[in-house]
Amino acid sequence: MAPLSSGGQIALAFVGGFLAALLVIAVVAFSFLRSSDAYGLGHWKLNAKMPLSTMWMNLGYCLFDVVEPGYIYLFCADAARPGTWDPQTRSAVESLADERYAERWLLALDCLYHFKPSRRPVFEYAARRLKANSMAFDLVLNESASLGDKLRMRAVGVMMGCPIDTFLTEKEYLDQLVQCGYDRESSTITDISEHVFSGVSGFIDSQERALSQYSVTLGGYKLAGRLFEWFGRSKVVKAVIVVARTREDADLSSS
Ligand SMILES: C[S@@+](CC[C@H](N)C(=O)[O-])C[C@H]1O[C@@H](n2cnc3c(N)ncnc32)[C@H](O)[C@@H]1O
Ligand SMILES: *[C@@H]1O[C@H](CO)[C@@H](O)[C@H](O)[C@H]1NC(C)=O
Repeated sequence: MAPLSSGGQIALAFVGGFLAALLVIAVVAFSFLRSSDAYGLGHWKLNAKMPLSTMWMNLGYCLFDVVEPGYIYLFCADAARPGTWDPQTRSAVESLADERYAERWLLALDCLYHFKPSRRPVFEYAARRLKANSMAFDLVLNESASLGDKLRMRAVGVMMGCPIDTFLTEKEYLDQLVQCGYDRESSTITDISEHVFSGVSGFIDSQERALSQYSVTLGGYKLAGRLFEWFGRSKVVKAVIVVARTREDADLSSS
């Protein structure tokens, strides 16, 4: 190998040092986000009404439910992959695909961007198998955001354990719904960002201040608060309500 000039060596050392530092930061951030377990038991800190009157832990772990008039059944399963559901879960869900019910709805609150491999399997299952409309709260990528912001958003998704291509633009989202059996004309995506991000980040800040009197710190949720603040400020993603209605030709028997 040709000997490097001392300037070249310094540049190489600088670039190497920079890459090493970047790697260390990425590993620390990744393991921090993973170990802070965004949906772990620490959520009581966000539910605690200030000032504290009790320290009763109000927790809930519920994955999805099937609602029939007068009954709510809870099942624990991977909602993203209907193919993996056990027979009991599957037959309970499929019992809803019955003409007795004039309308069926899949309700997904703030969870679809986590779905692996993608939102497709559950949308297809709901539209084609159950002929169920869908309503969801979800995050949609702003197609006009800068490339830098889009890349940062992708990194945030990966750190949250989401598929790398989980954030879609509104057009991509609608295309996906249509491919899964929903009707383009009667499906809507409504931007409600102004009612979401600044409110959540403001709430996390005030909760952090209130809990500090008890020497409790929000820990990882502070980072979540910064993220919501960034979403609101940069508009890199939009907080949206998705309503999708099945197409007449989305048939009950296929798939
Ligand atoms: C941001 S939280 C929202 C929780 C709640 N829906 C709400 O609106 O307060 C996302 C939730 O989605 C759940 N989740 C993510 N992927 C899932 C999957 N494949 N099946 C079922 N639940 C999932 C997580 O466990 C977590 O509780
Ligand atoms: C999308 O991002 C651009 C550039 O930051 C911004 O001007 C625009 O308001 C954003 N659109 C929405 C709907 O948030």
